[in-house]
Amino acid sequence: MMNNMTLNAIPVLTIDGPSGVGKGTAALRVAQHLGWHILDSGALYRVLGQAAIKHGVAFDAADALEALAQGLEIEFLPDSHTGDTRIVLEGTDVTQAARSEEGGKAASLVAAIPQVRAALLERQQAFCQAPGLVADGRDMGTVVFPHAVLKIFLTASPEERANRRYKQLKEKGIDVNLPGLVKQLVERDTRDSQRLVAPLVAADDAIQIDTSHLDIESMVQKILTALHTALQHKGVVSSNQGSQ
Ligand code: C5P
Repeated sequence: MMNNMTLNAIPVLTIDGPSGVGKGTAALRVAQHLGWHILDSGALYRVLGQAAIKHGVAFDAADALEALAQGLEIEFLPDSHTGDTRIVLEGTDVTQAARSEEGGKAASLVAAIPQVRAALLERQQAFCQAPGLVADGRDMGTVVFPHAVLKIFLTASPEERANRRYKQLKEKGIDVNLPGLVKQLVERDTRDSQRLVAPLVAADDAIQIDTSHLDIESMVQKILTALHTALQHKGVVSSNQGSQ
């Protein structure tokens, strides 16, 4: 188990926000630039959704889902062909199903259960390893890493987010239609924002960035600049060290 000393000593950058806002891509690029570890917390909820389907557990069966979450046998493996991460559940590759919009819906249903969130908390905190961690999700800055050195909250209009998601899914060969995607995205955001535990909300001390008119490169640069300033304030880097 991570103790508070360990959690406080290693710098964490949290990137939260609604679906399709570009969190995953931004987090990956920032982590690669810094040489830090990455936590895609949504993937954990997505895998749990797949585990529930595989084991015939209903999405509202709190006790059974808690037990599944506690024993979740999951691996994240690099995919040399696509450069993406392969998601492996109990030895089976479930990447496609987990990353689909249906997979997102299953994730958001199981994620609304407080016992499930509690069961996955330490597993997420264990990703906090030197030299640092970039964590993306919905409650990274509010619940999982409240001590983060910098908290970013990304926003963009639902139409823009659905468009980005559409392109992303098409590129991965996943068949989707745009109007259906907007509807699913809004439904998922509503459920994520209105749940009682760890709802989708910006931390009080988060920096909010509207990404509607930003390309990924500008987004990454803004985050890196903000991080450099935050690390300077904490005395982690000296003011004459460059951010690049
Ligand atoms: O980020 P991603 O779209 O992969 O997340 C899938 C779902 O998992 C979200 O819609 C949300 O319900 C849930 N989630 C969460 N808390 C997180 C990350 C994801 O509840 N930190």
